[in-house]
Amino acid sequence: MEGQVEKIKQSALAEIKDISDLQTLESIKVKYLGKKGELTAILKTMGTLPAEERPKVGNIVNSAKQEITEKLEELEEKLKKEELAKKLESEKIDVTLPSDKIKKGSKHPLTRIIEEIEDLFTSMGYDVVSGPELETDEFCYERLNLPKGHPARDMQDSFYITPEYVLRTQTSAVQARAMIANTEKTPIRIIVPGKTYRREDDATHSHQFNQVEGLVIDEKGKISFADLKGTLEIFMKHMLGDDTKLRFRPSYFPFTEPSYEVDVSCFKCKGSGCNLCKQTGWIELLGSGMVHPNVLEMNGYDPEKYSGFAFGTGLDRLAMFKYGITDIRLLYENDVRFLQQFDRMDK
Ligand code: DAH
Repeated sequence: MEGQVEKIKQSALAEIKDISDLQTLESIKVKYLGKKGELTAILKTMGTLPAEERPKVGNIVNSAKQEITEKLEELEEKLKKEELAKKLESEKIDVTLPSDKIKKGSKHPLTRIIEEIEDLFTSMGYDVVSGPELETDEFCYERLNLPKGHPARDMQDSFYITPEYVLRTQTSAVQARAMIANTEKTPIRIIVPGKTYRREDDATHSHQFNQVEGLVIDEKGKISFADLKGTLEIFMKHMLGDDTKLRFRPSYFPFTEPSYEVDVSCFKCKGSGCNLCKQTGWIELLGSGMVHPNVLEMNGYDPEKYSGFAFGTGLDRLAMFKYGITDIRLLYENDVRFLQQFDRMDK
């Protein structure tokens, strides 16, 4: 019996030596010390032994059990420590490592320009309004004093979708919508920034571009050409610098009478002549005028009682001049390297 216990003990100790993980350790524990374990089996046979031998055999089995238990406990502690160390190592956070860069987008130069214009005009009491990009011939042309067959329609190469629907060629279309919507005939002070479309495509023209339209209407006598002039002066000086000068040249637009094209002094050479202004010292930037009586009448305003002014400008051109962009197509490619440059230009 003694020899048998010793053999079990030796084989247990030998197996313990090879244990390298807690799972194996648990199965060895069960194998030797568990309820159905080998040593327990011997204790169970004690009843068959003569009474005087029982204490001796009991002692031998218990001391073998104890030795195995101690070895297992020792090893268990060691393995647990190792496991913890491994876990700590793998979950370690190095707070000195540089963090992941958070990529942030850049505002498009046109968005910047539009926001700047909106801030300026709302500070002067204007509303910002919008209209459909797919517009009817009626609003894009007819209600602006441009009946079908009018020669001035040739000034703009339109994208017609059907004979009645056109991609709006000018934000002026929203003038008529705003007048008709204002059934109370209260004063109108609006700007309309938005996308416009024409059949053009080269370094200075894109088939899609942006304009901002302005319209002010009030009772006759309240709005004069001086108001238009003052407004455009504030507008251009705000966008291009305080030393900007304006020049009003008589022109023709079907929806205004009188009409003016407005040039600004070249902000690169300050008027002395350079390649940007083609040596003239001036850059043509806006169309404007006093709202034509026909336009007032067609859109529900009695020209005897109301008058107003309107203006319109291309935002792409304004952005190109302001930021020194030479090809309009760059504005529509959305190359982040291009867009990022304007982050540094913010005032
Ligand atoms: N709609 C004109 C264009 O696209 C610009 C324009 C000229 C707008 C005169 C106006 C204006 O409001 O009064 O060329």
